[in-house]
Amino acid sequence: MSQSTSRRVFLRSLAGVSVAWLAPGAAERGALADVKRAVETLPPDPADAARDELFWSQIRAAYRQSPLFSNMESGFYSPTPEPVLETMCDGARRINETPSFYMRRRQDEERAAVRRELARFVGVGHDEIVVTRNTTESLNTVIHGLELGPDDGVLYCGREYSSMREALEQRAERYGLNLQKIDLPYLPGDPDAIVKAYADAITPATKVILVSHVIYLTGQILPVRAICDMAHARGIEVICDAAHSIGHLEFKIPDLDCDYLGSSLHKWLGAPLGNGLLYVRKNKIPKVWPLLGDSALPKDDIRKLEHLGTLPVHNQLAIAHAIRFHESIGSARKEARLRHLKDSWTQRVIEHPRVGLATPTEPERSCAIATVTVDGIDSHEVARRLYDEHRVFTVAVPQGVRIAPNLHATKSDVDRLVEGLLAIAG
Ligand SMILES: Cc1ncc(COP(=O)(O)O)c(C=O)c1O
Repeated sequence: MSQSTSRRVFLRSLAGVSVAWLAPGAAERGALADVKRAVETLPPDPADAARDELFWSQIRAAYRQSPLFSNMESGFYSPTPEPVLETMCDGARRINETPSFYMRRRQDEERAAVRRELARFVGVGHDEIVVTRNTTESLNTVIHGLELGPDDGVLYCGREYSSMREALEQRAERYGLNLQKIDLPYLPGDPDAIVKAYADAITPATKVILVSHVIYLTGQILPVRAICDMAHARGIEVICDAAHSIGHLEFKIPDLDCDYLGSSLHKWLGAPLGNGLLYVRKNKIPKVWPLLGDSALPKDDIRKLEHLGTLPVHNQLAIAHAIRFHESIGSARKEARLRHLKDSWTQRVIEHPRVGLATPTEPERSCAIATVTVDGIDSHEVARRLYDEHRVFTVAVPQGVRIAPNLHATKSDVDRLVEGLLAIAG
């Protein structure tokens, strides 16, 4: 969707609801106008725009980041752009002025508007999505909420995120569940090999597959759509862990065709900390039990899955502003820039004989995140030295050192990372 079309759709989506609070705050208005002007100067091809350091330095200005080190660890949580953060703080003050009145009379309408806006952004019905606090909450809701018997099989690989593996293990220990854990071949040469690895592991007991869209350890993008097609042909449902996808990759949830999906909006979308989403395909909603008891809403109402009690609504409302900031740049441009950031360090270190990559470099198989190794040096030691000696913050994972720059990373951050890695490699 073009920039202007998506903006028109956004404005249309606001028509008809009372959304004065959704209007950008003063700082946000200024920032959006600046981004809009700057976008007009960009070359049309996102891959070319990705190299326009002047443009990206203007985007960088929207983030307040510590000058003490280069932050290359956006895989955990990414900063929220300042204009969005300020609008959120204004929202907190506004709600605080009329506390219980707001909660009793206003919050339902405003949260519903955010849900509609988020649904539009990810391309699903507003009655198929709820806002959660994070992926862990979203996918625990599904993992504990599905009606599965002790012999029913859930197929997943050892590279799924620990919280989901633990949720499955707890359910198995408590109620019984047939855990079908596979070792995904490491860096298989072609995505068909990954689909085949799942297909080969299916047994007559398999009812559900749990699969990550982006593997957190290496940033590898898995062929989720092909896995869903294969699974659905066998009557198996798919839960997608999309913790790293929303705001990172340009896609809509229906492109994946999964049945359930969870994501963390504080990772790549830039929504304030503690925001996530849960998508459940419409006809599957009645089957999912809420994690926190809800018997008031009809079984086919997805809002039964967001029953959380009193919560910081201003935080949720800021999702709409994070989406607007994201769309002012454009999903395709952002994805291209993130991939360019990764390419611009990996291409400079990969020729070194002691440096290895644990991440495929083909554009469709990775984006911002890549994991690097230095032969003969433990990854924790590499990460420690990157920080202590070069002031570059990263994280060690079993496969190497995970590097995850976001839009706030500049060329000098990338240069510092490359110099640090090459110095450590010797
Ligand atoms: C693949 C994956 N799934 C789930 C999570 C959990 O995300 P959150 O802590 O936001 O719930 C993470 C966190 O890094 C992750 O990488």
